Amino acid sequence: MPLIRETIVTTMSPEGAVHIAPLGIIADGDGWIIAPFRPSTTLENLRGLPFAVANHTDDVRIFAGCLTGRRDWPVTPSACVPVPRLTAALAHAELAVIEVTEDAQRPRFRCRVVHRAAHAPFEGFNRAQAAVIEAAILVSRLHMLPRDKIEAEIAYLGIAVAKTASAAEREAWNWLMERIRDNQSASRKT
Ligand SMILES: Cc1cc2nc3c(=O)[nH]c(=O)nc-3n(C[C@H](O)[C@H](O)[C@H](O)COP(=O)(O)O)c2cc1C
Repeated sequence: MPLIRETIVTTMSPEGAVHIAPLGIIADGDGWIIAPFRPSTTLENLRGLPFAVANHTDDVRIFAGCLTGRRDWPVTPSACVPVPRLTAALAHAELAVIEVTEDAQRPRFRCRVVHRAAHAPFEGFNRAQAAVIEAAILVSRLHMLPRDKIEAEIAYLGIAVAKTASAAEREAWNWLMERIRDNQSASRKT
């Protein structure tokens, strides 16, 4: 299996609308592959404007926020690509698409790194950060996962949150739990 790095990817429409989404980017030699599922705004943006930024952040509220309708995170102009980076990025890589492999479910955009920069020290992680990212992935798959699997995984991940979370991880966790509860009450009504 290749290395996959969980990042916040910024893209932009040709009209200039910035889009922020968590994506696992796949290592490809010196570059990265972005593989968005259809349909998605990230996919449409990469077709319209073939640049992206991979933002590395330890603020897991951005992962949880993007999946719960909170996408309005501050951005800053990038050095070499038209797509901006996250202001909160500890480091980022500016990417240019060099090849597209079409796929019915998940086209792959091979990207070259045109610039990278570090902005702030990485202070280490706690278990709650990893738990929030795992829970965010579960939330992105609510429509396809059985309810008992979600409940079992959340019960396990919740231990790390209870033991190690700072206020930021607790806030991110609460957003995700609210989304899971809303999804379960909506599915009870149908
Ligand atoms: C950590 C993490 C990694 C993800 N990786 C991917 C990915 O590689 N491809 C994808 O299509 N969605 C991925 N998702 C789900 C997307 O973030 C989510 O579906 C998003 O809304 C993409 O659609 P959009 O571009 O329309 O916003 C991931 C979610 C999380 C939390």
